[in-house]
Amino acid sequence: MPVSRLNIALERSELVLPQTGEIAVFRAQTDFNYDVLPANRRRFFNSFKPQHDGLQVQGPAAPDVPKEGQFGASLVHITRSKQETLGLIAKALLATEAGGLVIVDGNRTDGIDSIHKHCKSHLPPDGSLAKHHGRIFWIRRPVVLPDPVLAWRDDLNLARNKDGFFSAPGMFSPARADPGSLLLAAHFDTRIAGDVADLGAGWGWLSAAALKTAPDIRRIDLFEAEKTALEAARQNIADPRATFHWADVVQMDTDPRYDAILCNPPFHQGRAATPSLGLSFIETAARLLKPKGTLWLVANRQLPYEATLDARFAHIQTLEETHHFKAILAARPKSSRPHQSANSAAPARTGPRRKRR
Ligand SMILES: C[S@@+](CC[C@H](N)C(=O)[O-])C[C@H]1O[C@@H](n2cnc3c(N)ncnc32)[C@H](O)[C@@H]1O
Repeated sequence: MPVSRLNIALERSELVLPQTGEIAVFRAQTDFNYDVLPANRRRFFNSFKPQHDGLQVQGPAAPDVPKEGQFGASLVHITRSKQETLGLIAKALLATEAGGLVIVDGNRTDGIDSIHKHCKSHLPPDGSLAKHHGRIFWIRRPVVLPDPVLAWRDDLNLARNKDGFFSAPGMFSPARADPGSLLLAAHFDTRIAGDVADLGAGWGWLSAAALKTAPDIRRIDLFEAEKTALEAARQNIADPRATFHWADVVQMDTDPRYDAILCNPPFHQGRAATPSLGLSFIETAARLLKPKGTLWLVANRQLPYEATLDARFAHIQTLEETHHFKAILAARPKSSRPHQSANSAAPARTGPRRKRR
């Protein structure tokens, strides 16, 4: 791993950390080496459960951003959403004492140059360094923050989207329901009954759709790694049958307890496409389903989920395939011995109804 821009800026003494005060890291990353920040002064913040849990080895981590004015300095790692990043910078400025430093770091492909330009028009940076296809810049926190910066913070609040649901920048498909989820939900029917789970529930659209069409749902558990999205889901679903869990689905236990599982699995981590994440979701679903349970899954059409579905379910039906998505109903989970069942017993498969959308 190349030496980080943070290391370089500190080594060159272009960037000088304050001698005292805790240092907050917003959207702290498990694959970033924070040794350059004093171990007894660094505090990590990330509301995404796998990152939050993985960070504990490098220092104390919490999901929620801190209160106003308590840190000597803050470091913000940008995200792929410009609006979310500006909101995080505003929150970092609020959480840093007047005169303290707010440091912003990111890659060009994630939009750091645009963020730098945007910040410059309201808060002149103290310094900046371009390196490794990215940039790090730092701002000294003024006593009074300009109104546009406070507006960046407010833009992170949950607000109603085009479908009337609460969401916020940075979440999956924040503006409206995802077309893949719409496709899957068009096939929901009364077979979704009993104890149900939604793996990677986001701001809750899929669960809300199931609760509308399937009256025999006894309870529905929403599992989501992004705490802010889970909070939105909580606001979006008032039904007492729903419960909300901040969880890493990949790490979930193996107790088979659900009659049906709904899932539009993630296939990206940051910018990188990671089909293995979706495969892990399918594995978790197979483990969590009762012997007669069903998995209602939607995925981008090109994602290679079939071999794992075949290995882990006795019956697979393609509900519909479009130009972009495939909606699949997988039933009767098999034991988890890898690929043994895929080779020995071909699953019963019923063909797709293909439609171009
Ligand atoms: C494709 S989105 C689907 C969201 C929602 N179900 C919908 O249909 O709009 C996948 C969701 O999985 C969440 N996610 C990603 N990795 C996760 C993990 N390891 N554990 C739990 N949720 C995760 C993401 O935050 C995102 O909300």
